[in-house]
Amino acid sequence: MRSGAFSDEVDAGSPKKMRPNQNARCFGGTIMTDNDNQNRGHHGQPGTPPPDVRSFGRRRGRTPSDHQQSLLKELLPRIAVDPAQIKPETTFKLSAQLGMASGRFAQTNPPVWLEIGFGGGEHLIWQARQNPGVVLIGSEPYQDGVLKVLNAVADGGLDHVRLLADDVRPFLRTLPPASLDRVFILFPDPWPKRRHNKRRLIQPALVSELARVMKPGSELRFATDIGDYARTGLLALYANGEFEWTAQSPSDWRERPVDLPPTRYETKAGREGRRCYFFSLRRQ
Ligand SMILES: C[S@@+](CC[C@H](N)C(=O)[O-])C[C@H]1O[C@@H](n2cnc3c(N)ncnc32)[C@H](O)[C@@H]1O
Repeated sequence: MRSGAFSDEVDAGSPKKMRPNQNARCFGGTIMTDNDNQNRGHHGQPGTPPPDVRSFGRRRGRTPSDHQQSLLKELLPRIAVDPAQIKPETTFKLSAQLGMASGRFAQTNPPVWLEIGFGGGEHLIWQARQNPGVVLIGSEPYQDGVLKVLNAVADGGLDHVRLLADDVRPFLRTLPPASLDRVFILFPDPWPKRRHNKRRLIQPALVSELARVMKPGSELRFATDIGDYARTGLLALYANGEFEWTAQSPSDWRERPVDLPPTRYETKAGREGRRCYFFSLRRQ
């Protein structure tokens, strides 16, 4: 299902809180719930989380130049998030665990935002420039994208950016509860073939982890140019029960928010004539 179809799935009869159509089919027939996922376990072992299905494409693109290799070798380790350093059982503030307890952050407890799959980094760099008082973590396994952000950090003025050059999901599992103030998932890989739908990032297991690590009242932004992903993603978020879709009118999800710059994928979607959907959900 492509753009245009999603608007038919919205229950336009509830102006205050919009809901996705609960009868929609997804994930190969029925809507999976958190309980389905938790109870199944890996190879049927109760309590063992299933392994993460790979949700991203390539990790490597072009061979890095000498300058890029030095950014990867010298700058990346200085600003990399090390999941082994995060202590989920403590209440020690996350920004301090990320090495942000000194310098201009010494006396503050800055909000921590996470962008999952920042691609070319356009949005991450823009938000970092607009929000110098926020610690911004970007996660992206694709090296060329990581290099774009490293270049911007090397140019200066972005000492509040931290990078995870990897799959976000193991990292999320290390985070203390209620530690993130905002999360962005912008144009996640669409995996359009039905047999690949299980690779989509927004699945009940991820949503349930997000619900655990996001603060009550914090915002999750999800954008896509694929009508079917808009529907199934929203249903997965809604099924979790901890997220409230804040749209009050169609323009709230049809138009890009003013504080969200266009990313490379949004621009590509526009060029190819696909409508984009922008969802804002509040962690209750
Ligand atoms: C379609 S691109 C969109 C990139 C960017 N957000 C944009 O709007 O231009 C999706 C990105 O998500 C990344 N990604 C996919 N699965 C991921 C995961 N589990 N953890 C972190 N990033 C992931 C991919 O590597 C890819 O760069």
